[in-house]
Amino acid sequence: MFDEMLMAMVRSPPSQSPLLQQANPPRDGFDRRNPRNHLRSVRNRCAKRQRNLPANRLYNCRSEAESPRVFVVSDLHTDYPENMAWVRRLSRAWHGGDVLVVAGDVAETYRNFVSTMAELKERFGAVFFVPGNHDLWCRREEGKFMNSLEKLNALLDACSELGVETGPRTIDGLGIIPLFSWYHKSFDKEKDITDVKIPSLEMACKDFHACKWSPQLSNNGVALALHFDMMNEMNHNAIKEVQTTSNHIITFSHFVPRQELCPEKRMLFYPNLPKIIGSDFLEKRLRSIHGNFVSGSACHLFGHTHFCWDSVVDGIRYVQAPLAYPRERKRRMNGGEDWLPFCIYFKGFTDKLSPAYWSDYYSENKREPKNTDLAPWVAKFYTRHTRRRGP
Ligand SMILES: [Fe+2]
Repeated sequence: MFDEMLMAMVRSPPSQSPLLQQANPPRDGFDRRNPRNHLRSVRNRCAKRQRNLPANRLYNCRSEAESPRVFVVSDLHTDYPENMAWVRRLSRAWHGGDVLVVAGDVAETYRNFVSTMAELKERFGAVFFVPGNHDLWCRREEGKFMNSLEKLNALLDACSELGVETGPRTIDGLGIIPLFSWYHKSFDKEKDITDVKIPSLEMACKDFHACKWSPQLSNNGVALALHFDMMNEMNHNAIKEVQTTSNHIITFSHFVPRQELCPEKRMLFYPNLPKIIGSDFLEKRLRSIHGNFVSGSACHLFGHTHFCWDSVVDGIRYVQAPLAYPRERKRRMNGGEDWLPFCIYFKGFTDKLSPAYWSDYYSENKREPKNTDLAPWVAKFYTRHTRRRGP
């Protein structure tokens, strides 16, 4: 998402990347008028392939004594062919007894979403999912969904048909709780950068154009963030049940629960990023779930900003393990294709994700939310940008 906004700043008006243009070639057998037909054919293929897997590789056939391994990945963005190819390269043999948590932004189109989740469900014993912003984009759905909430319902229905979990569940004493969320501007509490001209949120973030909401659910106030947070109420009883039957709990969301889980504004090419990434309601809700658990046994997984992250704040471990865009992986010091999905749990929580550049940086450097001196790379970017376009 971060890169996308950066691209939006460099190009005006934001244009579609060539990679994205290749992302949706027409495929034989996809019924554009009825996406559910696609789901049916994918599901049939999936069931046939699952029958061919050795029985002991299927999650439901695991030995009672085995502890589940839980893997996490966010921001799969399989509209990029390279990312879909990465999903298809995941082993069919290794993960039959494992759980995979997918923390949102699977794909922009319903078709790619269903194909991706079916591929994952063929490989993992259990797959959990929460929606991200890209999952709810309607711009390439050719009018199939009236709005983003209708698309959300279609995605949840598809998950239910594929056997993908979208609600809380306990697996061998480990509770896994998906949390719906959306961002709101007031999540950003740190001092604004005013020395350079920063593009508006509407210009930088495609959600404002690619998602469709009813007039009551504007993306400007807290209405959307509240709406998504209230969706978690339908799982109230299931969450209580998981709390009473679990030794450890993993909650997960697509969006960011605390501003400290994102670099300071002066470090960012788009300094207003914190206004479109997180939710105070989310942090409150996950704390209400983890509240009774002692430090070290609570973990929250998230996505969206595409920064690898692993830090403990006020007793809860927060982890982001994004696949992200192909061009971001090339620039990342730890790539991602070979170590993702990241194993977060096996007989307890695993060691720290390494390297996680920004959370490692903040483990040694104090955050300075009032400091608005731009980092050298940001200052250089805005100097060039201003020279090219004029003030
Ligand atoms: Fe996102």
